[in-house]
Amino acid sequence: MIDIINENLFHLTTSETSYVFTVGNNGELLHLYYGQKIDVSANGRNALIQKWSHGNACSVVSDDSRHMLCPDDEKWEMGFMGKGDLRSPAAEVIWKNGGTTAEFVFESYEIMDISEVCDAFKKASLPHSYDEEGGKGKALKITLKEKTECAKLILYYCVYDDCDVITRSSEIVNCGQATIKINNLASLQLDMDADVIKVTSFHGDWAREMEKCDVLLTGGKFVNESRGGNSSNHSNPFVMYAEPGATESAGEVYATNLVYSGNHRESAEFGGHAKCRILTGIDPDFLSWPLKKGESFLSPEGVLSFSDKGYRGISRNEHKFVREHIVRGEWKYKERPILLNSWEAAYFKISEGKLLKLAKEAADCGMELFVMDDGWFGKRDDDKSSLGDWYDNKEKLPNGIKGLSEKIKALGLMFGIWVEPEMVNADSDLYRTHPDWAVKDPDRDHAEGRDQMILDFSKREVREYIISQMSDVFERSNCDYVKWDMNRNFSDFFSQGGKAEDQGKLPHAYILGLYEVMEALTQKFPHILFEGCASGGNRFDLGILSYFPQIWASDDTDAVARCTIQNGYSYGYPQSTWSAHISASPNHQTLRRTPLATRFAVASMGVFGYELNLCDLPSEEIKEIKEEVEIYKKWRKILQFGDFYRLGGRVTQESFDRYSGGFLSARLDTTLTRNIIVSKDKSEAMGYIVNAEIHPNYSHTSFRTVGLDDEKLYHFCNREVKYDIRRMGDLVNMLSPIHIKQDGVLHNLVARFKKLDGETEDYVARGSLLNNAGVNLTQTFAGSGFGENTRLYADFEARMYEICEIREDPLEESADDQKK
Ligand code: DGJ
Repeated sequence: MIDIINENLFHLTTSETSYVFTVGNNGELLHLYYGQKIDVSANGRNALIQKWSHGNACSVVSDDSRHMLCPDDEKWEMGFMGKGDLRSPAAEVIWKNGGTTAEFVFESYEIMDISEVCDAFKKASLPHSYDEEGGKGKALKITLKEKTECAKLILYYCVYDDCDVITRSSEIVNCGQATIKINNLASLQLDMDADVIKVTSFHGDWAREMEKCDVLLTGGKFVNESRGGNSSNHSNPFVMYAEPGATESAGEVYATNLVYSGNHRESAEFGGHAKCRILTGIDPDFLSWPLKKGESFLSPEGVLSFSDKGYRGISRNEHKFVREHIVRGEWKYKERPILLNSWEAAYFKISEGKLLKLAKEAADCGMELFVMDDGWFGKRDDDKSSLGDWYDNKEKLPNGIKGLSEKIKALGLMFGIWVEPEMVNADSDLYRTHPDWAVKDPDRDHAEGRDQMILDFSKREVREYIISQMSDVFERSNCDYVKWDMNRNFSDFFSQGGKAEDQGKLPHAYILGLYEVMEALTQKFPHILFEGCASGGNRFDLGILSYFPQIWASDDTDAVARCTIQNGYSYGYPQSTWSAHISASPNHQTLRRTPLATRFAVASMGVFGYELNLCDLPSEEIKEIKEEVEIYKKWRKILQFGDFYRLGGRVTQESFDRYSGGFLSARLDTTLTRNIIVSKDKSEAMGYIVNAEIHPNYSHTSFRTVGLDDEKLYHFCNREVKYDIRRMGDLVNMLSPIHIKQDGVLHNLVARFKKLDGETEDYVARGSLLNNAGVNLTQTFAGSGFGENTRLYADFEARMYEICEIREDPLEESADDQKK
């Protein structure tokens, strides 16, 4: 809801939050409050506004009519250069005379439908959030005008009541005759009263995305930025800012994100006055945008959320926002198929025969989609050639992608294909024909990444060419799924043939060009399920998710490493957006051996698939895979679209935060990963525990749920586990009547026919018990004792717990029986 009181107090409310700002005495836009919902009626403005009776000793005070207001000690909706606000500005414009001082003051406001703001984004070729029901959601447009220069600043606020999110964006319009230059334009600024803040951001690299990092900031500035041209695996644009004592389930947490896929910067900065300024937007180091007469520049959309229910509350908001207001199209809520991807099964060594064998196995196991990854086009036998040459490699695929796709579909599977449309190899016909299409400074040696260059998507002819090439590939292969890869960071930012003064546009212009191509192709092929990928998670952001409903979360498919990566994503992105595959053991990235059941548990928390050579697996593993596929199909809707909650590790996030103030919690949290996914109606849930490291004689672990209905009665049971007897090593002799030599012939023979039964967890209990006390699980094996209800729980073991509502109440029945 948007309330405007006395024409100068703006109160934006969502279901649980309030966002308040006002016009100051000189037209300045002052921020007053963002947090838990408040009532600003009566004399709310006077109570909230900062009081000034004299200037601060060292501060700039521009004139008395400002009531001694010191810009550096105020909360602003947007901070500018040159008038005494010494913190980082939200906007930096270079005027005709070279000056950068700016004073934008209030001119007008307008309440509009969110769909009208969407139109502004569409015009600028930027992705954006949306409200399904068109006119329902409301937005506020504030227009400010520069006091001296002929320019306007427009601020957009979209209010999403259902998920406690407010999005913001800013637009500068050049109304004068001369060209001006935008060097910085933040999407959102949030100034708040605080003297300490805990910043949580997500960092990493290839195969190590989304490691959660916490910092306590009491002064100075924290910066989270990506400079490689993508939203990056180094620093994801999703950042949380919390009161230091905030825990998973309690405390005030703010979060920002950006609907953008290029270089971005998030910062939290204390000036000298116990106020923290949060900024989010395009990284100003990569923006230098000349704006001619009449032109405007719109920032990407910034996303703001608040919860007083800790990190869990923020995640709930973010998940809902992404599901409802970012992901769109036919696949928004459509259950995603179980796939087999050829990459880790065969890498570049593919052929029609090999792929068909794999696909046949996949079909026999009940999978639904076969994806041919890299290696099918040009002369592509490794990563050194052929990107750009999107024609069939007839040596590998004598019948082309068309013939292969027909054969795959004849097996009853959908067909998916890998492409990397933004790239070109020097060894390609495309580069030989159009060397000037690469992002490359012709006066320098070019730095390559994975032996490839980036196509200059800021050029219209390049975009048109790629749209036509991709259309041809998608039509020829009649594909149902596309994996859209992007495997390098930018270097040598230079648009060949472009003017010197326009070169600063390239990083952003590239991203706008990319969005134009993605928009064209997703509109043209609405039924295709697109999956984003950038060497895994090097471009996992809300910009990509506005076109593609899911993204390959990481090239690291190791189940244990994935727990950290996936839980990292889970803070800001729902599980329906991160895809996760079961791969071989030992794992190809870590060489770690993990049980198939563990790989299933971890992969089934995301959009599930397989990526291994099924043809080489022993029959018992194929049997297990068939069971997994069945389980996943049965639970798919809940697992993909239910409510995902982190339950904390052994040293839980909560307890650790309490003792340590929140430092280094990520590492401890990985010891044991406990999560749960609950159906929307709370009638069913799947619980998970993954053990990264055994700690002897921590024999008793409980599983305490979140999100179940306190009143409902549930059946709680574990997925059945069977152990290979060889897991016990020579301890087998403690059970065997005859001596068995470890790893000897007899040991292997017994292992083929005798499996050890795992523990049974089987309880009936109310939601209130499960939510508040939790189930005490069976005792773990700890060097002594082993019986039928001992939980063998070595390194890398996992358990899945099915929790289902019992509609007939057996407690009542037995009570009735007793009465009789
Ligand atoms: C990087 C991706 O992340 C992998 O999954 C795979 O598709 C390769 N590229 C193919 O080159």
